[in-house]
Amino acid sequence: MKKQVCEGIYWVGANEWSKSHFHGHELSIKHGTTYNSFFIDDEKKVVIDSVRDSKCDEWFKNIEEFCKIEELDILIVDHAEPDHSTAIPRLLERNPNIQIYVSNGGKISVSRFFPMAVNNLKVVKTGDSIKIGKRTLKFFEAQMLHWPDTMFTYSDTDKVLFSADAFGEHLSTSKLFNDEIENEGLWYEAEKYFANILTLYSQPILKKIDAFLQLNWELKMIAPSHGIIWRDNPTQIVEKYIHWAKGECEGKAVIIFDTIWGGTEKMADAIGQGLAERGVHYKIFNAGSADMADVMTDLLGAKAIIMGSATRNNTVLPVIAAFLEETKGLKFRNKIGAAFGTYGWSGECIKRIEAGFAESGIEVVAEGVKSQFSPDEKDLLKCKELGHTIASKIKCK
Ligand code: FEO
Repeated sequence: MKKQVCEGIYWVGANEWSKSHFHGHELSIKHGTTYNSFFIDDEKKVVIDSVRDSKCDEWFKNIEEFCKIEELDILIVDHAEPDHSTAIPRLLERNPNIQIYVSNGGKISVSRFFPMAVNNLKVVKTGDSIKIGKRTLKFFEAQMLHWPDTMFTYSDTDKVLFSADAFGEHLSTSKLFNDEIENEGLWYEAEKYFANILTLYSQPILKKIDAFLQLNWELKMIAPSHGIIWRDNPTQIVEKYIHWAKGECEGKAVIIFDTIWGGTEKMADAIGQGLAERGVHYKIFNAGSADMADVMTDLLGAKAIIMGSATRNNTVLPVIAAFLEETKGLKFRNKIGAAFGTYGWSGECIKRIEAGFAESGIEVVAEGVKSQFSPDEKDLLKCKELGHTIASKIKCK
């Protein structure tokens, strides 16, 4: 069935309904995903972005609703990560003369992944455009949204922006547009995508979005390479990106802990009580069972992160180390933090967590609370007081 985006532009991508993780096992996806690819039916037959190799047959079938693969003139690769590009070798087998438009970064990524495509590549940069018939396609280099190779392609006749991964989300749906679905986790998945994939690049993203908006291109639709097309109020997702990239937080807290015999968990609960007593909304995650990508999504919007671990082998428990590594990598902005935990004899958990916070850019705003073996009433009171302190810091920041 032909899926029309607007007159002359069609979705020819593929749905991935049941995949549970992305990037190997790095990123959980609970609503599947899509590999969006678009066919433009003009004097030149153009496809924007490809799909992963496992979906190549489906992609070919969708394109061949309009023309033979051998008749395609142009493939535009806005971003060459394998989920959008591993079908390219089979495309080249069928159509060895197709022109492939890429950014400067795309020239590197495509030729490294697919050396057989080198002679097909045409490099474009911001300000370049190509006439494909009644339409002109314009290009904008959108480095770090989310790779150095990322570019946007804009159809000036249709006012449609093809934005690669930017503004997308992992959400598989039979519908195409944001106004056709009843949320279905849309905003959560968009935020999860930003939190886990884009947070580290917040500064360059703000600059890039600012430069893009200065072009004053009218936007009737934003069509990312994953998830739905933004048709109703399309720039709402751009505004959200600005909000997230600025590190604008809600006044809530996230507590993450791992425990050996339950003592650190009791401390986490007491800190939560202290926060609640001061009117601060919080969530507690047991790091051993929590989904890291979901926790990072909550962290994006939280002001405070309070992390606890038992001490083992003179350091934190392994899952807490993994969470610290992730926060170090993502470098959330404008966060405050504190540490807590139990210990037997040495008690390094606090200083390890605080060192991790320092490397993550999280400001430690309260002395950590430590308890030997099992928290007693005094220790739990200190935990509650830690909750009070964090609440007051959240409110005055
Ligand atoms: Fe959807 Fe960065 O690939």
